[in-house]
Amino acid sequence: MKPFLETLPPEVDTKLQNIKPPEEQAHIQVVTDLIDNGSFGEQWLVVTDERLLVIPTEGADGVVEVPLKVITETRIEELVGAGRLEVEHGEGEPTYLYYSNSLSPKFAEVAEAIKQLTKGEAPMLPTEVERTRCDTCGRLLPEKDGVCLACVKTWDTLKRIIRYLAPYKVKVVILMIFVAASPIINLFPPLIVRYMVDNVIAPLAGTGLTLSEGFEMLRSPVGGLLGILCLTFLFEIIAGLLRADVSSRTCRYIRGQLFEHVQYMPLRFYGKRQLGNLISRFTNDADRVEMFLLLGLPFMLRNVLMLIGTLVVCLSMSWRLTFFALMPVPLIMLGGVVIWRRMRSIWPRWHAKWSQLSSHLNESISGIRVVKAFAQEDREAMRFNARNEELWSVSVTGERHWHLFFAVMNFILTFGMFFIWYFGGLQVIREELTVGTLLAFTRFLFQLYQPLQFFSQLNNFVSRAFAGAERIFEIMDTRSELSEDPEATAMPQMEGRVAFENVTFGYDPGKPVLNEIDLDVEPGEMIGLVGKSGVGKSTMINLICRFYDVNRGSVTIDGVDIRKIRLEDLRRHIGMVHQDIFLFDGTIAENIGYGKPGATLDEIISAAVAAEVHEFIAAKPDGYDMKVGERGGQLSGGEKQRIAIARAILHDPKILILDEATSSLDSATEKKIQAAIARLVKGRTTFAIAHRLSTLRNADRLIVLDDGEVAEVGTHEELMNRKGIFYDLVHTQQQTSAIIAVGGGKDDPSQGRR
Ligand SMILES: Nc1ncnc2c1ncn2[C@@H]1O[C@H](COP(=O)(O)OP(=O)(O)OP(=O)(O)O)[C@@H](O)[C@H]1O
Ligand SMILES: [Mg+2]
Repeated sequence: MKPFLETLPPEVDTKLQNIKPPEEQAHIQVVTDLIDNGSFGEQWLVVTDERLLVIPTEGADGVVEVPLKVITETRIEELVGAGRLEVEHGEGEPTYLYYSNSLSPKFAEVAEAIKQLTKGEAPMLPTEVERTRCDTCGRLLPEKDGVCLACVKTWDTLKRIIRYLAPYKVKVVILMIFVAASPIINLFPPLIVRYMVDNVIAPLAGTGLTLSEGFEMLRSPVGGLLGILCLTFLFEIIAGLLRADVSSRTCRYIRGQLFEHVQYMPLRFYGKRQLGNLISRFTNDADRVEMFLLLGLPFMLRNVLMLIGTLVVCLSMSWRLTFFALMPVPLIMLGGVVIWRRMRSIWPRWHAKWSQLSSHLNESISGIRVVKAFAQEDREAMRFNARNEELWSVSVTGERHWHLFFAVMNFILTFGMFFIWYFGGLQVIREELTVGTLLAFTRFLFQLYQPLQFFSQLNNFVSRAFAGAERIFEIMDTRSELSEDPEATAMPQMEGRVAFENVTFGYDPGKPVLNEIDLDVEPGEMIGLVGKSGVGKSTMINLICRFYDVNRGSVTIDGVDIRKIRLEDLRRHIGMVHQDIFLFDGTIAENIGYGKPGATLDEIISAAVAAEVHEFIAAKPDGYDMKVGERGGQLSGGEKQRIAIARAILHDPKILILDEATSSLDSATEKKIQAAIARLVKGRTTFAIAHRLSTLRNADRLIVLDDGEVAEVGTHEELMNRKGIFYDLVHTQQQTSAIIAVGGGKDDPSQGRR
């Protein structure tokens, strides 16, 4: 189903047919969940080529009709907990449509589409929208596009988990044989007991056999019992070792696949997720799956076999006693269903709480400097405690339910025991049953109840494990960059001609950051991007790297839409020094060589020399082997920047991006780096962003962004002469530095006179 052409309920459809002629095509048919700001109820929005209609689900009247011709403006507005679509038109009050927050992604797209329709263009609507509620049960999802843990499909998930066992087929088969063997051989001991009691002990009791004769008679059955015990022991050990091996290997495999997949996820994916939540899939969820493979799956097999085998043997000995033994079972099943329902609603909550806790943990530890700088340790601890307590409260509810259920079930189950002794004993007295059979029965009873207990627990176990597995699969199913266009062109060489054609882009749909940008950059040209903070400079660069895809228009390199270029090739030709520099926890040499695996030390050193960082590194006791610490924490901002520049130099890209690459450098170092950069940009298309506008003097052209659009283009001089936005920016900056210079010179009489 197309997400923007929802199926109309019959009464709404009738109303619609009464209004519009049949040939008029509807482009949008969506339902809202609020009637006005605060009252729940459904209303339909239908937009055709000609008109916009708001149709309430109930009541005959109240249809609002606005011809598209008269619409002047469409926008969305965020209210508290809800949103509003506003359609302004020449005919009085604007038309409003309210919806709860969960629908805002949908209506952001709708607003855009209405704008296009009013301009007479065909609306471009995405084929997917973020889901905030479960399609099946309507519950709020723990995260956008997430999995509804209450609706996990057990069977599908199981099949999928089992598929991960495929690489270890042989081991799995051997494991199954060993697992299956023990319940089967365990059917024998009660039968041996029966034989011993009925055929040896009872007939020979009181016949005055000597000790050695007695031993002689009992040797084989007791020997048999001992043999089976030893065999079971051996099988258990072998099966245990195999289980540990297979489950941990599978889990390693799943984790590896997950990591690989996550590496190729687009940045938008990370933007939507909390890190702790993502990490918990590698830890908590993977552990659950491992436990399921280690304990759940083999025990399931064992218990099924045990149940069937025991039932068959018991029925063949006495169907009546078997019937008594099974009397408590319906009660157990009923209890199982009840507890299952309860647990199914508890587990998703538990997951949500746990994710919140780990996200908080992650954030407060990463941000520990800020926490300390603002002396907020207490507050963080309090917030953590609150979350911890919420988690505890859900856990304890779950565990309480669980243990109560378990105790009650055990109690009920043992009732079977009384029936057996009572009715079985009666039969023995009446000589309808032998003592051996009765004894065998009491032993079989445990083998019958054990699987039943296991199955009543299974749901708990399985739903935890499957929820974990689902959360892992959910990520694996999210489209990664690897599933890019299969016809993407290889581009081993690039000239470096970059063009923006009518590009519109926003991180959130409906809130464009860049608006219809057009720009042509020649190969080898150096472009300076200028504009106020937050205007979208870094965003333009994100689009060139294809960290995000444009909403409309296209970015091309050498005339090819970058969505059609193999990502690998695209990124190999782009080198960037990002505004937020990230270094990995490793040595300086490893960090400089990151983009070029196998780079020699000589290459690394010459990159470092070019980036003016060699002297600093050489002065360190460990030189290039110095560890930079997590995120490069042991280096200063300027040192990190220069290492990042060296990293980009070594990468030797055709397109170079410098986003505030020299912002943390003192003037003297910056001068030197400027010279290095001037050498570096030769023969490369360069995009440089700098707030210190004087550093962009070398640029061939400056692009001034304002309000999401290209406001001015030209060389430094041209723009200064034009006395426009750029001139103002430079002017303000000069004034600011003059103020700083004067302020800084207060104590210095020589400067004060200047
Ligand atoms: N990942 C993101 N998700 C949502 N909005 C974002 C994201 N990154 C940036 N924005 C928003 O997009 C706008 C443009 O941001 P951008 O980083 O491009 O600004 P900039 O021009 O580079 O600013 P600065 O000079 O401060 O670096 C800002 O309003 C910002 O809030
Ligand atoms: Mg920026």
